[in-house]
Amino acid sequence: MHASHAEQLAYTPLRERYRDIRNTTLHITSPFSAEDLMLQSMPDASPAKWHLAHTTWFFETFILSPQVPSYKPFDPRFKQLFNSYYKQLGAHPYRGARGLMSRPSLDEIRTYREHVDLAMLRYLEVPDENTAALIEVGLNHEQQHQELILTDLKHALWSMPLQPERVERPTAVNNVEPVQWQDFEGGIREIGHAGPGFSFDNETPRHEVLLTPFKLASRLVTTAEYLEFMNDGGYRRPELWLSDGWDTVSAQGWKSPFYWEDRDRHWFDFSYDGMREIDPSAPVCHVSYYEADAFAHWSGARLPREEEWEVAAAQSGSKGTFLDSGKLRPQPASGKGLQQMCGDVWEWPASPYVAYPGFKPAAGAIGEYNGKFMCNQFVLRGGSCATPESHIRASYRNFFPPHVRWQFMGIRLAK
Ligand SMILES: [Fe+2]
Repeated sequence: MHASHAEQLAYTPLRERYRDIRNTTLHITSPFSAEDLMLQSMPDASPAKWHLAHTTWFFETFILSPQVPSYKPFDPRFKQLFNSYYKQLGAHPYRGARGLMSRPSLDEIRTYREHVDLAMLRYLEVPDENTAALIEVGLNHEQQHQELILTDLKHALWSMPLQPERVERPTAVNNVEPVQWQDFEGGIREIGHAGPGFSFDNETPRHEVLLTPFKLASRLVTTAEYLEFMNDGGYRRPELWLSDGWDTVSAQGWKSPFYWEDRDRHWFDFSYDGMREIDPSAPVCHVSYYEADAFAHWSGARLPREEEWEVAAAQSGSKGTFLDSGKLRPQPASGKGLQQMCGDVWEWPASPYVAYPGFKPAAGAIGEYNGKFMCNQFVLRGGSCATPESHIRASYRNFFPPHVRWQFMGIRLAK
């Protein structure tokens, strides 16, 4: 048996992982120009240049400045400039104004990264048990921002008048097995992270949940299945929608998933290389919680609860497409049994993002990482084709407001 890339990474010394993960961030931005990396197409999305600086700020602020007496900050102004939302660290710029930061230049930010990397790699020469956990947070934080760099860039490229050209290559359509309903027993089970290895605080404490017997769809909802919902008037039938969902559909004029365009009665969707005819066999992607819920309603099924999803994912270990593949598109399911639980698209369970019983955020500013966002958001599970494989696990809880669509978000059904 070969250890997966993710398992190998978990046993790699911290110093090597630091170098590896920091390099990946540079690698994914390398195909883009300085002008591309500076775009902020909406307040929710940040310029890639800001992500490059903010992930560096994390190590300077939480590790180097407090732990290394001889460390000289690269530029003392960056302490406020690249703070995202940590109120205990003082004021920070308004998120929607990150696209105004033409200064410092991209070159200066790259030098800032080198400055911090040099100090971090020197610091990591001698393992320090006291800060290892916080450095893990910094590396996992960087991986989260790798995905955001890609999803924010996708939105920026789509938003600009000179979009990448249409792709003329025909889309290869795969045969996807019909959905099989996988049976799971009820009873008292446990969810949440118990180790070994890293987890974020919002995955803890591990605790008991009561499940009634349930069924989970063997694979993600495909684009072809979603088209049936659309062709059946899915976006025009208020009886299928949550009240907030219907208000959003009406106000925004939604008629399809995000990034879709109707060109001469053919649906196209946008990716990094441009508009391309949709792949009916691929998982549907860029749908909100509202759309996921309406689709489930229409199909006579429901969305899983997060505890059902986690029990099934932990048991099956099923994996799909991750950032590591370089594909940056969710791929069609292949094979039988439970497929695509991790990877391809984030899945919306019918679960609000709230604290687990006994949850305690960490003390100090780092405690602002997850806990303070536990209001008005929904959980997302399993990672996507833009998530590094070593970043995701069955207990992982991502979260976004229910109307959001620019992340790689899709649907799995339950009964
Ligand atoms: Fe951050």
